[in-house]
Amino acid sequence: MEYVFMNGEYVEADKAVIPVRTHAFLYGTSVFEGIRAYYNKEEDQLYAFRVKEHYQRLLASAKVMWMKSPYTLEEYSNITKSLLKKNEYKTDVYIRPTLYKSAIKVGPTLTDNEDSFLIFTTPFGDYFDANAGLKLCVSSWRRTSDNAIPPRAKVSGAYANSALIKTDAHEMGFDDAVVLSESGQVTEGSAMNIFLVINGVLTTTSITDDILIGVTRNTVIELAHELGIPVCERPIDRTELYNAEEVFCCGTGAQIVPVESIDHRPVGDGKIGKITKQIQSLYYDVVKGKVEKYKKWCLSVYD
Ligand SMILES: Cc1ncc(COP(=O)(O)O)c(C=O)c1O
Repeated sequence: MEYVFMNGEYVEADKAVIPVRTHAFLYGTSVFEGIRAYYNKEEDQLYAFRVKEHYQRLLASAKVMWMKSPYTLEEYSNITKSLLKKNEYKTDVYIRPTLYKSAIKVGPTLTDNEDSFLIFTTPFGDYFDANAGLKLCVSSWRRTSDNAIPPRAKVSGAYANSALIKTDAHEMGFDDAVVLSESGQVTEGSAMNIFLVINGVLTTTSITDDILIGVTRNTVIELAHELGIPVCERPIDRTELYNAEEVFCCGTGAQIVPVESIDHRPVGDGKIGKITKQIQSLYYDVVKGKVEKYKKWCLSVYD
């Protein structure tokens, strides 16, 4: 039996339903997070990764969307831990906390519209094969801009943009796509951030380039510092994608995934690059609680 946390209680998953006239369903007015928990078999422990940082971002998204958070950061962590424990997972898990406009009403206004919170969890393997490089294209769709639907806020309605990007890329035979901003510069993938190695420097778009500021992006930057790899955050042109020595994407779902080609042009020599490999291997150790220094990012579920 799987439980969902909803309206302050743990309910059986198939009983966790919302009415059809719920505002969030009608207008995409929910903010959410995607968090992973990793099962460490040797320790028989489940580690939820960077829970605090994900809830901090949830609160930031909520503020943009005129939502009041019903819980504190500590309460969110405790609820997440209790739910995982209750579901007794011994496998990797995806955690989806959602804060949503729950008024039963027609009309898009966000004020005078109550907020509700739920979390569901589900066993989750790899979203992409970490060893097979992605074949990307540059999407003909543009990323929504900060003054339209701000990518910095993780709002469910904004994922119509991601859905079009991902689906059209798939239909054309690619795994995913790089999305440009309204001004034509690189932003990110459909649901992941992007890193390029240019002249040995790990380069990523800056936080004001219409991206979701990924928790994994931040992890990668910290791990690169640890490994002594120089990092630069700056605007990136489309053609820099074609000349980069290495490219990889990252996100909670995607994890660290190398890119093999972009618009049919091979990245580097088409094989996984050295820096990508280094980051990838440290990342997989860190998320499983195997690196003492970064255990601070791993919330143990089973006491
Ligand atoms: C649009 C978008 N960009 C980037 C990311 C990566 O963010 P994170 O590393 O916090 O999962 C995601 C994943 O949630 C996303 O949906």
